[in-house]
Amino acid sequence: MTENQDMSRDNRTEYQQDTVMDHEFDGIQEFDNRLPNWWLWLMWGSMVFALLYWVFFHTLGVGVLPVERFEMEMQVAQEIQIARALEAGIDNEFFVMMTQNEAKVAEGREIFVKHCVACHLDQGQGSVGPNLTDGYWIHGCEPMQMLKIINDGVAAKGMPAWMNQLGPTRVNAVLAYILTIKDNEVAGKAPEGEPCSF
Ligand code: HEC
Repeated sequence: MTENQDMSRDNRTEYQQDTVMDHEFDGIQEFDNRLPNWWLWLMWGSMVFALLYWVFFHTLGVGVLPVERFEMEMQVAQEIQIARALEAGIDNEFFVMMTQNEAKVAEGREIFVKHCVACHLDQGQGSVGPNLTDGYWIHGCEPMQMLKIINDGVAAKGMPAWMNQLGPTRVNAVLAYILTIKDNEVAGKAPEGEPCSF
């Protein structure tokens, strides 16, 4: 062994004696080394960041989370899509597209609860008006056929006309909602009309 190696071993022993921790397990001892600054900065930094992030996004709700931002952008895109379709003229496909717009369907549900449940009941299962969920339709099950009934009503049978009262935007929304409950098969009023699928 050279003199140099001897010295380094001595140094190491000295260092160990100074900084080794006072527990030992299976002959394994632990150094009490000071953590490097870059590591400490990272740790404290990420803790502060996590705290600020939590307060900003969750406690105060000031920040818009990526998922929320995505949904907002989707919403805007869908609004644009609906506006374009309206310009081009509505058809069955337009209403199928409307059913994919959660906000419109939710709006339609509200309108339904306010104006339609008196006769069609809460789930559309029917009382004065027919069951809207049973797959049987008096006037056809295509969206455009339903639109005509909702707009103009069937005065002789007691279905009011809604176009004047609700206006096109709300009629479109309530129709979108009806399309989402259309084949739910809720037990209620006996089927009327013909079996129909769209
Ligand atoms: C005052 C009672 C009443 C209210 C309120 C009412 N309906 Fe009706 N609805 C009826 C009746 C009765 C019929 C059946 C008409 C017929 O026999 O031709 C009907 C039929 C319908 C049909 C066609 C069903 C089919 O089988 O072809 C749709 C769609 C409809 N209603 C939607 C609505 C919507 C949407 C609303 C609310 C905006 C609404 N109704 C509110 C009584 C009502």
